[in-house]
Amino acid sequence: MALLPILQYPDPRLHTLARPVKEVDARIKTLIADMLETMYDAIGIGLAATQVNAHERLIVIDVSEQHDDPLVLINPEITWASAEKVMNEEGCLSVPGIYDGVERSTQVKVTALDGNGQSRTIEAEGLLAVCIQHEMDHLLGKVFVEYLSPLKRNRIKTKMLKSRRDTEKSN
Ligand code: NI
Repeated sequence: MALLPILQYPDPRLHTLARPVKEVDARIKTLIADMLETMYDAIGIGLAATQVNAHERLIVIDVSEQHDDPLVLINPEITWASAEKVMNEEGCLSVPGIYDGVERSTQVKVTALDGNGQSRTIEAEGLLAVCIQHEMDHLLGKVFVEYLSPLKRNRIKTKMLKSRRDTEKSN
């Protein structure tokens, strides 16, 4: 297994549209293992393949307290989303240190393949529902800061670019 570099906003590659996974083969299984390792190492609760510059429809999630209950969703599709929405504070491993409110459906139903290529349907609510919607946005090339006002988004962009320059200077 290997830790993968996580693309940092505003990297334009984060806006790539992911293509469906054709086959859950050894290559995809390695990518899943690497993504899980990368997510746990970064102390995140979700990671989309887009964020590690692999533009295929694959996300990994673990919202459990003990970080021992990984969920793998391949080619996920939301088949139903509740009309009821709620505002949650969200963060993202591609936008470290930034947290802001995004409105999401409180419940969703998702069909996807699991890590063994088996089809499954998940009914999610609470944090899991939010996380699934956030990660699936990544597969469409959308980062959560794009829900915020242009003013806020530009401030975040400036801050991220500045902190990257500072990091590069100190390296
Ligand atoms: Ni994210």
